[in-house]
Amino acid sequence: MGIIQSKTLLPQIPEHVAIIMDGNGRWATRRSLSRLKGHEHGAKAVREAVKGCVELEIPYLTLFAFSSENWKRPEEEVNHLMGLFRFFIKREMNELNSAGVRINFIGNINKLPDDVQILVEYSVDLTKSNSKLVLTIALSYGGQEEIVNAARRLAEKVKTGELNLDDISEEEFASSLDTAGIPDPDLLIRTSGEKRLSNFLLWQSAYSELVFMDVLWPDFKKEDLQQAVDEYCNRCRRYGAVSV
Ligand code: IPE
Ligand code: IPE
Ligand code: MG
Repeated sequence: MGIIQSKTLLPQIPEHVAIIMDGNGRWATRRSLSRLKGHEHGAKAVREAVKGCVELEIPYLTLFAFSSENWKRPEEEVNHLMGLFRFFIKREMNELNSAGVRINFIGNINKLPDDVQILVEYSVDLTKSNSKLVLTIALSYGGQEEIVNAARRLAEKVKTGELNLDDISEEEFASSLDTAGIPDPDLLIRTSGEKRLSNFLLWQSAYSELVFMDVLWPDFKKEDLQQAVDEYCNRCRRYGAVSV
């Protein structure tokens, strides 16, 4: 099925799709281009993913744009990526706003350059009343770091007497994560053929259906999203129970 179908024809459509957008560097290297060009083309594929989710009426999309480990990359590449985030937010926020998209960020935003932090805050504020699609961008994000931060927040609340130790439940823990209020991803896609999570949504992906695709991120089209959703719709989610 290459064509995007409506929710009515695909009743089990995922509520939340998360994507590890991988393969920009290899896309560029295969074309004898610099890795930086790969990231530029990767930014364009984000539009495809957003359009695809809007057409499929998927209400939550989370994109892994920069990991807490990606700071280890060469300075030139990191700077170029920061420039792209700056450019992308500036250029896309009005259009995303008109399309009814609510922009949200998870990760250690404080580590980003000051002007990118301002753009992040501005775009979140601009789009806060929208409800068609919640687009969460994971920037300087690491799942382990997020879990440690949540543990710290809970420990602080116990210390001040705001929370009893016995009241720390899975729900309480989840509500202390950056993703509080966002349902766990039903479908987690990784492009580029790699088969690992690379520290993405470790807590939240406990029962996500994983789909690994060979397409390199800059080549990702909404038809690839459709393909992953089709695969998801054919999966049997058991959550540890037995199927009926
Ligand atoms: C994903 O593409 C983008 C980021 C991690 C920022 P890569 O840059 O990891 O591309 P490959 O994996 O080297 O091909
Ligand atoms: C994961 O990709 C991070 C993003 C896509 C933003 P990486 O390319 O950084 O992951 P590894 O290094 O292959 O595990
Ligand atoms: Mg990679």
